[in-house]
Amino acid sequence: MGEKRVLCVGLVCLDIISVVERYPAEDSDTRFIVSDFGRCNVDVSHLVRHSRGEMPCACCLVNCQNGSRTVTLYDTNLPEVTAADFEQVNLSRYKWIHWEGRNASEQVKMIQRVEAHNRTCPPSDRVTTSVEVEKTRPELYQLFSYGDVVFVSKDVAKAWGFYSAAEAVQGLRRHLKPGATLVCAWAEEGADAIGPDGVLVHSDAFPPEVVVDTLGAGDTFNAAVILALSRGRPLAEAITYGCQVAGRKCGVHGYDGIV
Ligand SMILES: Nc1ncnc2c1ncn2[C@@H]1O[C@H](COP(=O)(O)OP(=O)(O)OP(=O)(O)O)[C@@H](O)[C@H]1O
Ligand SMILES: *[C@@H]1O[C@H](CO)[C@@H](O)[C@H](O)[C@H]1NC(C)=O
Ligand SMILES: *[C@@H]1O[C@H](CO)[C@@H](O)[C@H](O)[C@H]1NC(C)=O
Ligand SMILES: *[C@@H]1O[C@H](CO)[C@@H](O)[C@H](O)[C@H]1NC(C)=O
Repeated sequence: MGEKRVLCVGLVCLDIISVVERYPAEDSDTRFIVSDFGRCNVDVSHLVRHSRGEMPCACCLVNCQNGSRTVTLYDTNLPEVTAADFEQVNLSRYKWIHWEGRNASEQVKMIQRVEAHNRTCPPSDRVTTSVEVEKTRPELYQLFSYGDVVFVSKDVAKAWGFYSAAEAVQGLRRHLKPGATLVCAWAEEGADAIGPDGVLVHSDAFPPEVVVDTLGAGDTFNAAVILALSRGRPLAEAITYGCQVAGRKCGVHGYDGIV
């Protein structure tokens, strides 16, 4: 058997990112300064056809001045991964499984399957779990008490009345299962986390010289933190690594040179 892998459960979305001078007027034609279509080496009509079929697709405009973005079209009618689908997954292949919080009741069942698996196997074969609570949908908040590592977004933290990542991880920690870790990223303020030892750790952001595109910074951060933790790095180092990689991502369009 090769090295065990990390499995991510959620939505894979093809973001078509077009960089424009200004927000386009309704029904107008806009010349793209940069468009992912131009370099993804994929036939455009093919992408569009799939956007009507099973390939999820978002259309996103990025402001060149400040890197902010607007999602103009987003296909929300997508099939979610169910617990029944997850039954097909051979858990022995994975060391870590991450869930993007989407259909919490269904995802709780999947995590419970991992818990049951963990109870039957030796420590070296157990699977670590993480969840991301990004959307401010109360249904998702039950996920706080499941993952070994929980990522909570700035939006959710604010919805709970917190004004910083440090406040959020300290305030939300009581909702976690014993021994779990809580991580909160806060854009240009970096990220904070608390592990089982109760010690608050912080990393500043690593801003690029010019912020050109922050879309996906959060996912990049999560991925880098999971990679570091899955390799046994300490929590403070893992969030610093997350901020470094996410910061580099903010300095390029899409993921150029990052992945
Ligand atoms: N403007 C920025 N400058 C520097 N670093 C940033 C900036 N925005 C995000 N980051 C980095 O990315 C990490 C994740 O940030 P955050 O979750 O707030 O991003 P986001 O904009 O919500 O991303 P997403 O588009 O994936 O939702 C932060 O901890 C920080 O390290
Ligand atoms: C699950 O994966 C493990 C490790 O790759 C392998 O040894 C085992 O045979 C697989 N089980 C099934 C039912 O496919
Ligand atoms: C979650 O998934 C189940 C099974 O597919 C479905 O019945 C339920 O309606 C979904 N709930 C939400 C909130 O999407
Ligand atoms: C699975 O096992 C790991 C490793 O022992 C443990 O840290 C974790 O809490 C368990 N996770 C779940 C969801 O049971």
